[in-house]
Amino acid sequence: MSDFTIKVRRYQPESGDPAYYQAFDVELDPTLSVLDGLLQARDRDDGSLAVRCSCRAAICGSCGVKVNGQSTLACKTRLEDAQAIANKMAGDSLEGNAPIVIEPMGNMSVIKDLITDMESTHWEKFRRVTPWLIPDGAPPEREYIVSQEAMVDVTQAVACIQCGACVSACLSLEADPDFIGPAALAKAYRFVGDPRDGRTTERLFDLANDPHGIYDCTHCFSCVEACPKGVAPMDQIMRLRRIAGHDHEIDDLNNGRRHELAFAKNIERYGTLDESLLLQESYAPGVKAKLKPTPAAIKGLLSSLPTAVRGIRTGKMRSLKKLIPGIHPKLPGDSQKRVRAIYAHSEAHREELNLYVLGEDE
Ligand code: SF4
Ligand code: SF4
Ligand code: FES
Repeated sequence: MSDFTIKVRRYQPESGDPAYYQAFDVELDPTLSVLDGLLQARDRDDGSLAVRCSCRAAICGSCGVKVNGQSTLACKTRLEDAQAIANKMAGDSLEGNAPIVIEPMGNMSVIKDLITDMESTHWEKFRRVTPWLIPDGAPPEREYIVSQEAMVDVTQAVACIQCGACVSACLSLEADPDFIGPAALAKAYRFVGDPRDGRTTERLFDLANDPHGIYDCTHCFSCVEACPKGVAPMDQIMRLRRIAGHDHEIDDLNNGRRHELAFAKNIERYGTLDESLLLQESYAPGVKAKLKPTPAAIKGLLSSLPTAVRGIRTGKMRSLKKLIPGIHPKLPGDSQKRVRAIYAHSEAHREELNLYVLGEDE
């Protein structure tokens, strides 16, 4: 048995009081979970502490919380691990143990204590992606035959337990609450990648053109780190983008595909990002050569002016005066050649490993 102090964010709407933190001392084996700590505090000290849980084995997805600021499952986080992180965060001046801080998940409104409203931020978006199979044509006489390879491809997305940890951690959702979000988009890939589904094009067209769809993800990796089941939602979103932009060539209304292409071209050419060229190439690819920007490109470029001004002010982007070819710094030595070799390799090896199933860690 060891002693731990858990510091829990409490919010009890019926009291009319603002949220506050309450510390509980728990005595448990260090290998037991943060959820065990919460349940002991509820049983011994305060029966009004609201916690959602069921399986206690990382299967049902109901105990999502933040532990020391990280979105996770309370039942999958050992007290000893949470304690080590709390101590590390407290720094060198710490004497004894720091409290383990437990808070409700982020990006969701709190119903009570650690219970969040999963309906409006998660389930509503989940339904938004039509999370069921829509086969084309008449059903086969017997079962659908699907290759093992195709099933392995979607297994990673199938592993999702709908806990909402990725939704809680998502930085894009913080900026845009209407973003469809990592969990729902991972589920969308589960059906886009399924050869039995007959609505692949419609699904992709929808998700690419939605201003809160696949191009709203900023590639920040937070959902990958938060997911307790190895679903790596960001990877599923990147797969959706690749199939939409590359395979189906969907030129979305958000300019997402052109922005990606401009980004890739920019790095292939210079090795580092040239923000001014990125902007121009995203909205009006080839405009310098043709000098014939489309009305849509002009509109897009004009709408980006405030961003460009901010970029110039902060030194992130070259000023218009310096916007002449050749001024962007080149990589030293043969580095650029090596960058191009990476491009050539990735073009020649367009294979995607399902890391979840294969257990690859390289
Ligand atoms: S990678 Fe994309 S979906 Fe995942 S947390 Fe970041 S912004 Fe959200
Ligand atoms: S993708 Fe992972 S973190 Fe997100 S809801 Fe599914 S299991 Fe939870
Ligand atoms: S209690 Fe079921 S996942 Fe934690």
